[in-house]
Amino acid sequence: MSRTVYVNGEYLPEEDAKISIFDRSFLMADGVYEVTSVLGGKLLDFDGHLARLERSLTELDMEKPEAFGDLLEIHRKLVELNEIDEGLVYLQVSRGSAGDRDFVFPDPEVVKPTLVLFTQSKPGLTQGGAAVQNGIKVISVEDIRWGRRDIKTTQLLYPSMCKMMAKQAGADDVFLVEDGKVTEGSSNNAYIVKDGKIITRHLSNDILHGITRAAVLRFAREAQMEVEERAFTVEEAQNADEAFITSASTFVFPVVEVDGAKLGDGTPGPVAARLREIYLDESLKTAI
Ligand code: PDD
Repeated sequence: MSRTVYVNGEYLPEEDAKISIFDRSFLMADGVYEVTSVLGGKLLDFDGHLARLERSLTELDMEKPEAFGDLLEIHRKLVELNEIDEGLVYLQVSRGSAGDRDFVFPDPEVVKPTLVLFTQSKPGLTQGGAAVQNGIKVISVEDIRWGRRDIKTTQLLYPSMCKMMAKQAGADDVFLVEDGKVTEGSSNNAYIVKDGKIITRHLSNDILHGITRAAVLRFAREAQMEVEERAFTVEEAQNADEAFITSASTFVFPVVEVDGAKLGDGTPGPVAARLREIYLDESLKTAI
């Protein structure tokens, strides 16, 4: 069955959805995006994703799409039309198409942003499958991305290359490393646990300010767990009791191996398991 997608005000079968070949997200990666997860047909952390989208647009001096105020309704309608129980909604805003290729931004009075949304069904999202059961393996890779990783842009070539490097090394993902310290994963935030303390890099322009990160750290503190926001090295990760990653599409995945070194006994740790459970319980309560 074909999906119904949303393009600039219209709900269309995916095969009829079109944007210009001059769209700046296609030519220049001049676009920003959000991924919101869906559980039980409801959106998790929607307000957080909307707030980050607004921030990404502001940082890039990009106009808000006309339908910005209707985004909750559009998300909900797509979830309903596509009968999504477990899955996600992908949203992308680009600076639009000036009908030609030009590095200079087009006049926002003339060229309006392109807004695209679509759903992906992911049965089994709550359970998390083998990644939650067995944990994931990561390799460390140099972080050569640009300096504004706090903006959620569609420049995803290097993260895609990282996933391929991980795959070729028989691993599942990477820990990106800059100046000897881990920044984050290719599409997730990275954490270690040492002597019961949860350690994750502090917020700056060097990492994406994960919406799941914010929620997980809040729940951890509410549960009286100790949290330290600072950068850590690969060696510290290898010697940690456990490690894990967070994102809207994984929630919390335990990491059991870093560059071939097993963490603890090489099985998923209790802190990651507990945080996944709390995150799912608490986020479902406020899902809309
Ligand atoms: N990725 N860091 C990076 C580089 C990311 O791409 C993501 C999300 C995160 C986690 O952010 P959040 O918790 O708000 O999902 C951190 C999404 C899921 C993706 O690109 O598919």
